[in-house]
Amino acid sequence: MSTTPKELDWHLLTEDPKNLPWDQQAILSFTIHEKTICLTQQDGKFYAFQALCPHAGAPLKDGYIDAKGNIVCPLHHYKFCLSNGRNCTGQGYDMRVYALEMRADGLYVGFRK
Ligand code: FES
Repeated sequence: MSTTPKELDWHLLTEDPKNLPWDQQAILSFTIHEKTICLTQQDGKFYAFQALCPHAGAPLKDGYIDAKGNIVCPLHHYKFCLSNGRNCTGQGYDMRVYALEMRADGLYVGFRK
């Protein structure tokens, strides 16, 4: 089921996502309104997703992005599509992804109400 932007609560994630320390870490972690999420970028586009792996809870910020643009969990190496969260290695554990919207004052993340 898709979610339209009006059905989401939007929160400022960062004023300038390009100035985050991408040279130190490819996947960053943020806590906003008591929810911890990960943020990464791929080919100039930003992606937000759940902080802990849906399989057994490993911190996805410690994973990496493979050559196909999937996040790879650091523990059992299951892979997840950044754009839709699907478990592309077929184990059936889909990852939650969050909507992002670039506005004049920064990058916003949308949480379901
Ligand atoms: S905890 Fe991530 S694949 Fe098992």
